[in-house]
Amino acid sequence: MDDLKSKYLQLIADAGDENGLEELRVQALGKKGEISLQMRELGKMTPEERQTAGPALNALKDEINSALVAKKSALADAALDERLRGEWLDVTLPSRGRPMGSIHPISQVTEEVTAIFADMGFSVAEGPQIESDWYNFDALNIPGHHPARAEMDTFYTHRAEGDERPPHVLRTHTSPVQIRSLEANGAPIRIICPGRVYRADYDQTHTPMFHQVEGLAIDKDISMANLKWVLEEFVKAFFEVDDVELRFRASHFPFTEPSAEVDIRCSWEGGTLKVGEGEDWLEILGSGMVHPKVLQAAGVDPSVYQGFAFGVGIDRIAMLKYGIPDLRAFFDSDLRWLRHYGFRSLDVPTLHGGLSS
Ligand code: PHE
Repeated sequence: MDDLKSKYLQLIADAGDENGLEELRVQALGKKGEISLQMRELGKMTPEERQTAGPALNALKDEINSALVAKKSALADAALDERLRGEWLDVTLPSRGRPMGSIHPISQVTEEVTAIFADMGFSVAEGPQIESDWYNFDALNIPGHHPARAEMDTFYTHRAEGDERPPHVLRTHTSPVQIRSLEANGAPIRIICPGRVYRADYDQTHTPMFHQVEGLAIDKDISMANLKWVLEEFVKAFFEVDDVELRFRASHFPFTEPSAEVDIRCSWEGGTLKVGEGEDWLEILGSGMVHPKVLQAAGVDPSVYQGFAFGVGIDRIAMLKYGIPDLRAFFDSDLRWLRHYGFRSLDVPTLHGGLSS
């Protein structure tokens, strides 16, 4: 019995894995195992012999069993240690130095504009880019014969032969969202509507698709003075300066009366664009008091409500703020350009955290 004991304890100590251990268990304690066979011999013994051999065999069986269990858990621990060593990861290593993607200046500026107007109590509204001519023109007081339709270089969609309905258009401005939002929510209202707009035009400062953000504030006591204040606050916050020179130029839009276009002082000297200096003016937005006919078309009573609207060219103000000389580069998807002018994806613009820091 002592031989059996030292033999198995040694074999168990030397076992390299769980399979080997299982083989040893069968070899010693299985039905035909060496110790089980010894147990069977007990029957042939005299009662006296059995009295000493029986307990001794049971003790041996227990001892080998616990040696097996202990070794099994030691092997499992070792396996786990090895796995942990293999899968070890040094989380203190610095991350990749250069972020792979970046935020496009248009997205960045849209976020910046949204943060500024949100702070003044404006919420964000959206509308479709393929628009009916009612929303894009008629409801905005631009009837069928109006020259504004031609001026806007509109893209029309195609109607099937014989279909007499007017074609849909790619919206030429974000102003149709004024109508849709008033229809859906009524007055009072204070919204901005950023989005894509389309006109057939192409040069250094025009692309056939560009971006605007519409603003609309309607209530019972809104005047042109509110419009001027809001725009000045916006422009100062956006360009992150205490003062910026604006020019309100009397203008005409069918959907506002009176109307004003707003230009910002800038210089193009040496091919770089600078804000607040120089002899040039760049038009950045159109604005005015919403025409009573527009309110009427949207189901709002113009004898009770009035307010202002404006439309800012997002691409224009992005060029100005970030010194981007050619608008067309915005839409070329040139990776070198995107790396140069793009923004880090985790720096979300907020007024308190800094718009573009
Ligand atoms: N929709 C006009 C444009 O695209 C801008 C504008 C909006 C003017 C709102 C006045 C009021 O040029």
